[in-house]
Amino acid sequence: MRNTPLRVIGIAMALLFLAPVARAQSQAPKVRAAEDGLALTPPMGWYPWNEFGQEPQNEKLIKEIVEALISSGLKDAGYVYVGPDEGICFSRGADGKLTSNLARYPSGLRGLGDYIHQPGLKYALYTDAGARTCSKAMPGTEDHEFEDMAAFAAWRTDYLKIDWCNTQGLAHLSLQVRNVGRDDLDVAQAYAKLRDAQLAAGRPIVFSLCSWGVGEPWKWAASVGHLWRTTGDICSPGKASWSKAMKNTAANEKLYAAAGPGHWNDPDLLINGMDGLSETQNRSFFSLWCMMAAPLMASNDLRKMTASTIQTLTNREAIGIDQDPLGIQGHIVRREGQAEIWAGKRLFDGSQAVLVYNAGTAPAEVHVTWSDIGSTESAALYVRNLWTHRTTGRHRGGLTVTVPPSDVALLRISKSRAFPLPPVIVADSYWLSFRAPGPGAQKLTGTITVKTTGSDELPLWKVRPGLPSWLSVAVTKHGKSQTLSNTVSTAGLAKGLYHAVVRADNIEPVSGLPMSALYYDVDLEVSGAAGGHADR
Ligand code: GLA
Repeated sequence: MRNTPLRVIGIAMALLFLAPVARAQSQAPKVRAAEDGLALTPPMGWYPWNEFGQEPQNEKLIKEIVEALISSGLKDAGYVYVGPDEGICFSRGADGKLTSNLARYPSGLRGLGDYIHQPGLKYALYTDAGARTCSKAMPGTEDHEFEDMAAFAAWRTDYLKIDWCNTQGLAHLSLQVRNVGRDDLDVAQAYAKLRDAQLAAGRPIVFSLCSWGVGEPWKWAASVGHLWRTTGDICSPGKASWSKAMKNTAANEKLYAAAGPGHWNDPDLLINGMDGLSETQNRSFFSLWCMMAAPLMASNDLRKMTASTIQTLTNREAIGIDQDPLGIQGHIVRREGQAEIWAGKRLFDGSQAVLVYNAGTAPAEVHVTWSDIGSTESAALYVRNLWTHRTTGRHRGGLTVTVPPSDVALLRISKSRAFPLPPVIVADSYWLSFRAPGPGAQKLTGTITVKTTGSDELPLWKVRPGLPSWLSVAVTKHGKSQTLSNTVSTAGLAKGLYHAVVRADNIEPVSGLPMSALYYDVDLEVSGAAGGHADR
């Protein structure tokens, strides 16, 4: 088609409007998760620190927690990352390499990882950017960044928290760049080096930065990792503190603009189920974390949970707010006396999450108006209470809620009565291990089952091309479950060990957004076969 003058002016005007947008985009920090597809919703799992601190952590504890995670239903609700925190797991050998502490973890750190992967969970570990970890019981990564990240990859780690204790020795890094606050510079450069080391190690790992807000990571860390602590510790081990939890909430709330798919503000591990919290506080705390799209890393003793703790931690409707694929962090839009009205959290189906938290000591009667959620007052909307699981409406103009002290009303407000849940993925195995005894071509098969607890079925998982020639994967769907059938062919393979990481991608059916990528390991041991070569 020929360009008429009018059309040319139209294009020129469009370019004029687009120019600032394009400039803004090119200046926008790169988001690491855009490439690895990890943690596109806030990570969910369990870390021991809040309840246990360092001393009682060992292989037996982690294995018992894995059993409890599965039997309590937490795994099915989406809690998948699990492992020791500063659990005195490794030391540095004379050769500079990390070695597992076999006295505490007799299977070694790779063995512990295999145990965790077997039932379809993901493996989380911990280290520090400085010379030693916080208690000084373990070596930090300073000056060993590349070899340590290679060790974490070899242990098959899927999630790594990197603390910021004993980092004085890293100050020299700040000499290389100008115009950045000294703290910011040290922290940003040290963590960027660790990111580079992780990328060099070649394993997809969720990177959890833990500088407790030092260096203001919300300004730069989206290109480095997937989540960053915004605050100091939420409690001392074993001592849940409501006032510290509220302090962390207040600090984290202000940073809402920095959060999004694959880059999250982290106000610390959950304190749900710990001694000293009432049932009301447990519910309110969980609601606040969900409203802030915070990582949901439980940190209580899963082996002795009350029915009420389990009910709170597995409330799928609340989890659906946290795991919403748009990844918006809600914030306080208005205060009425001691009551806070949290909104600004549009969800994937066009509905809105609203939280009323009563920080006062007397019951609060609060009128939530439709203008609080950016809607016209004349709209007729349904309201779903995510703790009573009741829908009312349609309401016009707003809704009045009465909230007891320290309690919440966690609501979802929508034009439609449907209130669909976003997908939360549960897998039956993230690790397949094959053995081909003796020579000769053989075909071996193994499956990974993935199910969603969301309202809608998912499209077929798409396996990324580039698998080694000995492995092929086919996907089939049975409603909300899908099977990834793995076929291993040993024809032409030499004796040896083979390993592949499979990546599959999917999109969220309502919003069409990409979902966190699914990764799993496939191991093959060929003993005694002849010919071919190892393509590890
Ligand atoms: C720091 C972190 C905690 C925990 C301890 C371990 O304090 O903030 O979450 O990992 O270190 O020593």
